[in-house]
Amino acid sequence: MKTLIKKKTTISHKDNLILLCDYKSNLTEFKFSKKELAYIQKEQKNNTEIISLNQYTRKLFIVTPKKEINTNTHAENCRMLGDTLAGKSKDLPSVLIVDVKSNQTEAMQIAEGIALSNYTFTKHQTNKTPNELTKIYLCKNSNPKDINELQNIINAVYFTRNLVNEPFSHLTAKDLANAAKKSSKTNGIKITILDKKKIESLKMGGLLAVNKGSIDDPNFTIMEWNPKNAKNKNPIILIGKGIVFDTGGLSLKPTANSMDLMKTDMGGAGTVIGAMQAIAANKLPIHVIALTPATDNRPSGNAYAPGDVITMYDGTTVEVLNTDAEGRLILADALSFAKKYKPELVIDLATLTGSAVAAIGHYGIVSMHNGAKTDHKKLKEAGDYTHERLAEMPFWSDYDNLIKSDIADIKNLGGPHAGAITAGKFLAHFTDYPWIHLDIAGPSYTHKKYGYRGTGATGMGVRLLYQFLKKRI
Ligand code: BES
Ligand code: MN
Ligand code: ZN
Repeated sequence: MKTLIKKKTTISHKDNLILLCDYKSNLTEFKFSKKELAYIQKEQKNNTEIISLNQYTRKLFIVTPKKEINTNTHAENCRMLGDTLAGKSKDLPSVLIVDVKSNQTEAMQIAEGIALSNYTFTKHQTNKTPNELTKIYLCKNSNPKDINELQNIINAVYFTRNLVNEPFSHLTAKDLANAAKKSSKTNGIKITILDKKKIESLKMGGLLAVNKGSIDDPNFTIMEWNPKNAKNKNPIILIGKGIVFDTGGLSLKPTANSMDLMKTDMGGAGTVIGAMQAIAANKLPIHVIALTPATDNRPSGNAYAPGDVITMYDGTTVEVLNTDAEGRLILADALSFAKKYKPELVIDLATLTGSAVAAIGHYGIVSMHNGAKTDHKKLKEAGDYTHERLAEMPFWSDYDNLIKSDIADIKNLGGPHAGAITAGKFLAHFTDYPWIHLDIAGPSYTHKKYGYRGTGATGMGVRLLYQFLKKRI
């Protein structure tokens, strides 16, 4: 399903209206009855942010966002008002947002909240009950360019959510690569998909080890957006963990509240592919490359085993002490592969550790970085604006000792403490450029509705990456 955002220059008596107001707004043109006006004034005095009116031919919502001093808090409040409005508009075919108080920024943020909230995943239901709401109109004051940009971002978030919500039965590594291919073709992105043979000839030992137990081939997708007007000299690289299902391998996970969530373990890849779509659809003048190694992780007679020593793409030997710490193995090969591009910056996104979830829950992204102080600061600012917030972990050199191995160069397990950080330290071993690591294990999926992020896949990271890259130009 899609939610369309459009400009509409006229208002009819049948349009369901969202009137964006303040206390001083003049509402005479909407011809409210005395009774209605008295009700509106009373509710505004009570600081009611959304006043609902039913006018037989249409519904009306008078929206008076409370004043927040902090612009980020204000933006988020407007999106959350959009979420509430979406709940109230589920059964309406369309709503028209009129900025009576003439504030297009707020109108767009409310539209963003409604559109993000309006997402449903009904693909596998026989009796589908998606929301009736399919169109969000913005009034004559709106800027068509901004609307188009927002529409592309919403489409990208929906795309990512669809990928993350899709079960393994319908999304193998091949399906994931095909989804990237389809989006690339539509949006003018160059795409190369390395198959198992190529991955073997490149000796990507991490990706191949994780794939050993699988009946499906792995793949490694390279997407490139390099417009003529790109402002950066060297590319920015986005890397996403593409484990389409994580059983834990021979270090098998228990089912309840653990393995049963693991269709979402390609959340990093899904986010990166979605971000590429938003970047290309909006033609950002920036050279970006996305790398997504993909496979499932499962046990079989041929599966890699705890204690195995494997040789990675860059030649590093790794003692695999737990086959459930697989994400770092496939990411490590992608991080080493990224070196050849001499990147200005690399950001990886991964549903990497339960430890990240334990540390901050579902409300934000665990981050760490190496030599990317300014970019990390800017990414954090983009996170505060989009409410896809970063919580930075310490990245002290002391942690390096925790991944030393007695029989190989390093091991894929860091011990009982600081699991998100030792996973990050493992990845750092394969980088020689400014690098930011984002552990999205917590926020990429939610069981309980979390505002406009919805229930299930949230798509968190897409808006963050887009905003960051747009501002970085
Ligand atoms: N995919 C999991 C991490 C995860 C946990 C994602 C919860 C989403 C929600 C990852 O591959 C994993 O299994 N990590 C282990 C690592 C451990 C064995 C060192 C973990 O965090 O328990
Ligand atoms: Mn795992
Ligand atoms: Zn995993």
